[in-house]
Amino acid sequence: MLLENKTAAVTGGGRGIGEAVVERLAGNGARVALLDKNGERAREAASRISGLGGPEVVPFEVDITSYDQVKEVFGRVLDRFGRLDILVNNAGWDIMELFIDNRPEFWTKILDLNLKGHMNCCHVVLPGMIRAGYGKIVNISSEAGRTAAYGETAYAAAKGGLISFTRSLAQEVSRYGVCVNSVAPGPTETPMLKKGIQLSEFAARVLEERKALIPMKRFAQPGEIADAVLFFASPLSDYVTGQVLGVSGGLC
Ligand SMILES: NC(=O)c1ccc[n+]([C@@H]2O[C@H](COP(=O)([O-])OP(=O)(O)OC[C@H]3O[C@@H](n4cnc5c(N)ncnc54)[C@H](O)[C@@H]3O)[C@@H](O)[C@H]2O)c1
Repeated sequence: MLLENKTAAVTGGGRGIGEAVVERLAGNGARVALLDKNGERAREAASRISGLGGPEVVPFEVDITSYDQVKEVFGRVLDRFGRLDILVNNAGWDIMELFIDNRPEFWTKILDLNLKGHMNCCHVVLPGMIRAGYGKIVNISSEAGRTAAYGETAYAAAKGGLISFTRSLAQEVSRYGVCVNSVAPGPTETPMLKKGIQLSEFAARVLEERKALIPMKRFAQPGEIADAVLFFASPLSDYVTGQVLGVSGGLC
């Protein structure tokens, strides 16, 4: 198996893309720490995926926007697993709204979660990976960070920042055997996307327009994003770092 004897942590693993990533990594032999702000969601997803019969999947409750909580939770992950080989920074959130209608509190929240939360996790796990001389960090960004994203201006700024962070961090740590890459999904059918469409006519209209621009004419399924994460998390990509892989049906 590709990830035999490896340990992984996935943030926002309780549902959507994160849950699919946990399932894919565990299905390929990794022991997985499933981290989520919603403890009940984390426990349910971990129990479902453990029930599939792979290696252990252990739930942890954490808000990744708090550096102190991140430090504490990765201490517990290490107590449980002994080491951490793979970190998938996936937790994120957005709602669609024009920038002119945003409140400052909104973009603070967007940047805290989609950019600074990922930086918190990288900063806490990197010393151990550098000591071990091995690590795979996969940051889930978005095509919104590479192309213009009407109705998602603050989110696009956070994801664009995450892409720049990924490339620059790769330059700093690749010499120690730590690869840092990013998967950039296009619109993906997850609870976040479905809820956005249900709650807002504006989001529904913008997403329909965006779908028309996707050469494959459909949104992604979470498992399709997980397949790209598996590539970056596995030895198949040992000579690949600082890269961004769009998984978006040809959107560019
Ligand atoms: N769904 C899409 O269309 C899409 C497109 C491009 C990128 N993405 C990115 O993919 C990632 C996953 O998105 P999704 O659609 O699966 O979202 P989702 O809302 O369905 O799931 C996100 C999970 O993250 C958890 N979470 C939220 N805030 C957290 C925090 N502060 N600390 C820890 N956990 C937290 C939530 O509880 C939830 O379980 C995000 O980074 C998102 O920006 C999604």
